[in-house]
Amino acid sequence: MIYIAPSLLAADFSNLQTEVKRIADAGANYLHLDVMDGAFVPNISFGAPVISALRSQSNLIFDVHLMINDPIRYIDDFVKAGADIITIHVESCADPLGALRKIREKEVRAAIAISPATPVERILPYLSEVDMVLVMTVVPGFGGQAFIPETLDKVRAVKRHASLNHLSIDIEVDGGLNTQTIGLATEAGANVIVAGSAIFKSRKPRAVIDEMRKIAAQHPYKA
Ligand code: DX5
Ligand code: ZN
Repeated sequence: MIYIAPSLLAADFSNLQTEVKRIADAGANYLHLDVMDGAFVPNISFGAPVISALRSQSNLIFDVHLMINDPIRYIDDFVKAGADIITIHVESCADPLGALRKIREKEVRAAIAISPATPVERILPYLSEVDMVLVMTVVPGFGGQAFIPETLDKVRAVKRHASLNHLSIDIEVDGGLNTQTIGLATEAGANVIVAGSAIFKSRKPRAVIDEMRKIAAQHPYKA
C-alpha cells in the first residue's frame, strides 16, 4: 500500500486549520510534520504546540519528522501533542536506540531517518527496532529542493536488508517528490511518500494525489 504524506511545511501558515482539511479532503493518508530547531538544520519551523492544536482538527495519521538535536528530550512532548509516528535522525543523537525505544514505550510508531551524506550502514543496525525508515531524498532543512536520485540506492539497500531479515517496515522518502519522481522512489522500494510543495502549492491537490498514486501503481517495487 502506498501512503501519501503531504508536508505541512509547504502549507499557508496563516490558515493551518483550513490547509489541513484541504489536503485530508484531497485524499492524503498522513500529515507529515517537519519540526526544525535551527541547530540540527539551519531552519526553524514549528513545535509540539502547533501539532497539538491541529490534533483536534484532523484524523490523519500525524507523521512527525524531528530534525532536532537530542530528540529524546522532547519525545514526551510530541507524544502528548498527538504524534502517531515519530522519526528521529540517526545523525542527531548519541543513542538512537534509546530514543527509538522511548518512542515505542509510548505506543507510538518509531522511525529512523538518514540524511543524504550519511552512509546507509549507519541505520541498518536499527531496522529491527523501527516501524519505518525515512530516507531523505534532499538535504534536510528546507522544502522545495530538487530530488537527489542517488539517495535511492539507500532505499534499495534498506528494502533488501529488511526482506533478508524478514522485517516488515515501511520506507518513507522525503524531499523533491512529485509526479516526476514518485515512480523512481516506488520502484526502489519506498511506500510512504512525503510531498510538500507538489501537493500544498497546488490548487488541485486531489488531482496531484490521484496522479501520484496512479504513477506509483505503474511503478511497483522491482527487486
Ligand atoms: C525537508 C523536509 C521535507 C520537505 C519536503 O527538510 O523534511 O519534508 O518539507 O518538501 P518538498 O516536497 O517541497 O521537497
Ligand atoms: Zn520531512
